[in-house]
Amino acid sequence: MTLLRRAASAAALVLSSSALALSSSALALSLAGCAAQAAAPLPPLVVREVAWPSPGELGPVRAVADDGRRVVVFHDGAAAVFVNGALARVERAPHRWVSAAALPAPDGYGTWIVGVDAEGRLLRLPGQGAFEAVSDRYGLERAAVRSAIGLGEGGAAFALDREIAVADGETVTRYAAGPLATFAAGAGRVAFAAGGDGLGALDVATRALRSYPLPADGAAPLLALTGAGALLAATPAALYAEDGAGVLRLRFRARAALHGLAVSGDRAWFADGDELGVLEQAGVRETRGARLPRAGRLVGSPSGDVWLLASGALRRFAAEDGGGPAWGEIAPVFARACARCHRPRGEGGVDLSTPAAWASLREAIARRVVDERNMPPPGYALSEADRARIRAFVGRAAPPARR
Ligand code: HEC
Repeated sequence: MTLLRRAASAAALVLSSSALALSSSALALSLAGCAAQAAAPLPPLVVREVAWPSPGELGPVRAVADDGRRVVVFHDGAAAVFVNGALARVERAPHRWVSAAALPAPDGYGTWIVGVDAEGRLLRLPGQGAFEAVSDRYGLERAAVRSAIGLGEGGAAFALDREIAVADGETVTRYAAGPLATFAAGAGRVAFAAGGDGLGALDVATRALRSYPLPADGAAPLLALTGAGALLAATPAALYAEDGAGVLRLRFRARAALHGLAVSGDRAWFADGDELGVLEQAGVRETRGARLPRAGRLVGSPSGDVWLLASGALRRFAAEDGGGPAWGEIAPVFARACARCHRPRGEGGVDLSTPAAWASLREAIARRVVDERNMPPPGYALSEADRARIRAFVGRAAPPARR
């Protein structure tokens, strides 16, 4: 409850307001890149759309928050809550949402699902009951918040109109940053582009600021941070990734125009025209002929999948790695070995009857069925062929980011 109490005197909470002046000398760091490695081409990316239950007729989708177990889809006027891939409830609320995130609770216990509305307020959706205003819990009751992102290490970062606020559970620090063009957070760093001055990434623990030159085409890029804290930047023309020496390197030239960037576990996703792509250890792969909307936003998922939010509609995609089985091959295995206990309201507690449930519970299923081999329980047979099918099906996505 530390933050709750300290936040009660918000003015005093604003510990420092150090200006994040991005010195132009930092721009001397040249953009490495022309030497992008010409490794053997990787096979194209194959993605599969994860069938996701419909919450019925709700307004357009504006944002999504996904903590792995819970997915909350923020529609104009309502939020649909999915637990382990099943629709749990719909909470009506007269808000227009602009952003949403799963954030560490300000007292450090658990994760909060928080929406940001068009008035700049933070509203938490508790496990049960209505939205509650929580700007004050993060020391931001007088601020208009534009977006909120978890820092990945017990804190949260907020974009205000000309400032960045970082709440670490003890204190809230606000940094003047100028008009923010883009903003990202993760792995204890906050990255941003402000006022055409270049890119910055702030290490929250040390308060060290690293500057990067803007990529050559000058547009304010989309930003993301990998689980290891490396900065990714996507301009319409190209994707850059920070190397071990802190230099942004060209990794990929867009075939069309990059318009989405998100980190999901060990994988970074991007949207390029009407295709999806991933940046992984081995390199970059793109789909061929995915025919997705040419404008949209990507949102990461701890499962390794990605959400595509375009024109008020939300879809979820999984990467097919190594051509594992499709849901059509898993459904009979489920019927043979799991259905007895894992139908809706079955004695197994979790409903595993839908692809959405398998997507949400991929890690738990891999652990129980493949690693520990204690599902199904002793006495209930699962043939080795069926176990191998399940392993291939759940093993396709990368494990969530390690801490
Ligand atoms: C005879 C009943 C039974 C069968 C058959 C069964 N389970 Fe379970 N399962 C349970 C029960 C009871 C629990 C909750 C207690 C526990 O976690 O051990 C559970 C828990 C789980 C969990 C953990 C859920 C969580 O939220 O962590 C997973 C994953 C799971 N089962 C997967 C499967 C899969 C996949 C199959 C089929 C291959 C299967 N189970 C077959 C009874 C069953």
